[in-house]
Amino acid sequence: MQNTKIRVLTGITTTGTPHLGNYAGAIRPAIEASRQPNVDAYFFMADYHALIKCEDPARVARSRLEIAATWLAGGLDHDNVTFYRQSDIPEIPELCWLLTCVTPKGLMNRAHAYKASVDQNLAREVDPDDGVTMGLFSYPVLMAADILMFNANKVPVGRDQVQHLEMARDIAQRFNHLYGQGREYFVLPEVQIDDDVATLPGLDGRKMSKSYNNTIPLFEGGSKAMRQAVMRIVTDSRQPGEPKDPDSAHVYALYRAFAGADQTASFRAALEGGLGWGEAKEALFVLLDGIVAPMRDRYESLMANPRQIEDILQAGATKARKQSAELMSALREAVGLRQPQASTAKPASAKSKSGKAARLVSFREADRFHFRLLAADGTELLFSEGFENPKVAGQMMAALRQQPLDQLVTLDGDQALVHVNGQRVCTFAQEKMAPVSEAIASLQQD
Ligand code: TRP
Repeated sequence: MQNTKIRVLTGITTTGTPHLGNYAGAIRPAIEASRQPNVDAYFFMADYHALIKCEDPARVARSRLEIAATWLAGGLDHDNVTFYRQSDIPEIPELCWLLTCVTPKGLMNRAHAYKASVDQNLAREVDPDDGVTMGLFSYPVLMAADILMFNANKVPVGRDQVQHLEMARDIAQRFNHLYGQGREYFVLPEVQIDDDVATLPGLDGRKMSKSYNNTIPLFEGGSKAMRQAVMRIVTDSRQPGEPKDPDSAHVYALYRAFAGADQTASFRAALEGGLGWGEAKEALFVLLDGIVAPMRDRYESLMANPRQIEDILQAGATKARKQSAELMSALREAVGLRQPQASTAKPASAKSKSGKAARLVSFREADRFHFRLLAADGTELLFSEGFENPKVAGQMMAALRQQPLDQLVTLDGDQALVHVNGQRVCTFAQEKMAPVSEAIASLQQD
């Protein structure tokens, strides 16, 4: 089937906590774009890229969770897009290596980020490559792998990433030329710079950025922290009653990025009519908090239940890997690394060699009672919701042992949902249906 949709792909490096500028500049427009009927969107957490900039494991781990929760809280329809974590797609680093082998070193020498490091070193009169890792040097190749793996047509990014897109095209063309023999393995991606998308000013009027320490938090610290930040926005010294110039006011630029046209026009008129900065900031806070509060609630409930985020990401990875595995095997073949057909992999049988059978294992986590279904070889097949007491969890397990699986399961896209008496017991990727049915059937025989 010919796919006429435009494939849009973008990633966010997971090194920090998202702030209002990240939301308005990247997350909100991406979510809006993903709702268009002709768009097939791929959004991911660039956590391999994070390792280039950040050697603090706790921070990387936290950031990838926070960023995933922010996308979801912001209204991303994860069933409708492909939403995943880079490090869950082993074909990406595999492709990265194939691309590394066709990328001229001279091309990487010209990368802005690398050149900036060299220039700083020269200015400090130290070795030009001081502190430069191979990760930083080959950053654009990994980014090319992200993009080319899914044959993205459009890549919405900030201006600082334009060169990386040019490099991805160069690398794609080189690979196509060297190995394609008439076949274009890779689509040439185009950069998409959105001029309508708000670049928010920070508290001091420079671009809102963690490195300038001028951000308004999105969710962190709740509405209190948001209010405090808004009150610190720099203004001129005009007094209440004096007319203000909206076009030079950061308060106004922020307001406009979130309000509708009418609301913006009346705010503008109020400033020109002498509205005091204190009241203007209060109005900005009320506007922002009104938009952010419902998302903040969703964010907090997701962060309190990381398992839910994990399930969504695993389903996303499964979806993404259908494509990446297929392309990767064609690419391996193209470069002469065809894999022999795997014949050794046996389907998991009800009883493993050690004589173990599939089993249900219950446990407690944070005051909730869960259970897992493990296959005979110990792999986790299902992870239940949390129930309020062990008795309810026990009833759910009993239902799985007694009722035919097809009476309990309904399908929703790629997801299979298991309900007992109207209560959700668990969800799993539809792909896992065969091993799950097999394991449950074997429980029922016991
Ligand atoms: N380099 C991008 C940034 O820092 C993040 C990123 C990684 C990315 N891989 C990507 C963006 C692929 C778009 C496509 O903003």
